Amino acid sequence: MRRIQKCATLSFNGKKNGHHGVPATLIPGDGVGPEVIGAAVTVIAASGVRIEWDEQLAGASALKRTGSPVPPALLTSLKRTRIALKGPLETRVGEGYRSINVHLRKTFNLFANLRPTHSFEGVNTRFTGVDLIVVRENTEDLYAGIEHQVTPGVVESIKIITARASTRIARFAFEFARINQRKSVTAIHKANIMKLSDGLFLKCARRMATAYKDIEYNEQIVDAACMRLVTDPASFDVLLLENLYGDIVSDLCAGLVGGLGMVPGANYGDRGAIFEAVHGTAPDIAGKNIANPVAAILSSALLVEYLGHLKAATQIRTAVNDVLRAGRIRTPDLGGKSTTDEVTGAVVKAIKRSA
Ligand code: NAI
Repeated sequence: MRRIQKCATLSFNGKKNGHHGVPATLIPGDGVGPEVIGAAVTVIAASGVRIEWDEQLAGASALKRTGSPVPPALLTSLKRTRIALKGPLETRVGEGYRSINVHLRKTFNLFANLRPTHSFEGVNTRFTGVDLIVVRENTEDLYAGIEHQVTPGVVESIKIITARASTRIARFAFEFARINQRKSVTAIHKANIMKLSDGLFLKCARRMATAYKDIEYNEQIVDAACMRLVTDPASFDVLLLENLYGDIVSDLCAGLVGGLGMVPGANYGDRGAIFEAVHGTAPDIAGKNIANPVAAILSSALLVEYLGHLKAATQIRTAVNDVLRAGRIRTPDLGGKSTTDEVTGAVVKAIKRSA
C-alpha cells in the first residue's frame, strides 16, 4: 500500500513529545466504537508511539451519561489537544439532535476529510489494484443543516457553497496529490443541474488546477463517476468532492475494497485533526466483538503519521497488510470467523515481529 504522507501544510507543530507522550483526545463513541477504538489504541501502543489519551464521551453515550451529546468537557479537551482519535457517533434518522460529527468538524474548522481507499492482498473483492484518495469538503454544502418548513408539506434545505471553502479544499487535494506523487485530481460535481453552486465549486477547482500543472486535472458528473468507479476504478486517483457527494462516494469506494470495515479517515484543519474510520456505529454487530478493526487501526496510522512518526505508521500499515495477506485471521465481514480482539492481537504480533 502506498504510504500516505502528511500534507506539508497540515503538519502538527503543536507540542513536543514529552515523558507521557503527546496529549490527544480519545472518543470511543457509540456502537462498535469502543471495540474498534480500543483496538486502535492497543496497536498505537505496540508501535511504540506514546500518547497521553484524554478519554471523553460524545454522541448517544454522552447524552445518556451527561445529558448532552457534546459535553463541555469534550470541547475543552479538543481545544487543548487539537488532535483526536474518534469512534463513530450515532445520529438518528429524521429526528433527534443534529450530527455531532458535523458539529465538531465545523467547530474546529476541520475542512478536509481524507479517505484513502486501497485494495488489500488477500481480501477478495471483484476489484484489484484500487488505489483512490477521496478528498471531501467538510464544512458546508447541504450539511450546513439549514432546513425549514415553508408550509406544511413543503420544506426547504439550503446548499451553501462558497469560493473560500471550495478553493481551500481544491488546494488541499492538489497539494496532497503533489506531495504524494499522485497523477491526477478529478473534481466530481453535478454542475449540469446545480449550475451556480456546483458551478462555483468547479470554477475554484479549475483555477487551482492552473497552479498545479504537474497534476492532471479532470472533471466528471457524479452519477457517471459512480458508474465508472464500479467499472474502472483504476482510472481514478485523487477524487475531489463537495461534502454530500464525498460522503456517498466514499462508502461506494469502501465497497470496492472489502467494505466499511476497511477504510480509514482523517479530518484536517489548519490547527488540528480528528482521525476516524469511514464507517458508522454498526448497531447490528455492536458489542459482539466481531467488528472489523482495520479501518480504525489504519486511522490510527494516519494519526501517528500526522504526529511525525512515519516509521510507526508504516509499521502499522505493513502489519495490517501482512495479517490480511496471510488470510487466516479476519472478521466475518471479510468472510472470516475471527473476533475483533483476535485481529488486533495478530496486528500487534506482526508489529512486534517487525520491530
Ligand atoms: P454503518 O457504517 O454503521 O453500518 C453499515 C453496515 O456496515 C452495517 O451492516 C454494519 O454492520 C457494517 N459495518 C460498519 N462498520 C463495520 C465494521 N467496522 N466491521 C464490520 N462491519 C461494519 O452505517 P449506518 O448503519 O448507516 O449508520 C449507523 C449509525 O452510525 C447512524 O446513527 C449514523 O448516523 C452513524 N454514522 C456515524 C458516522 C461517524 O460517526 N463518523 C459515520 C457514518 C454513520
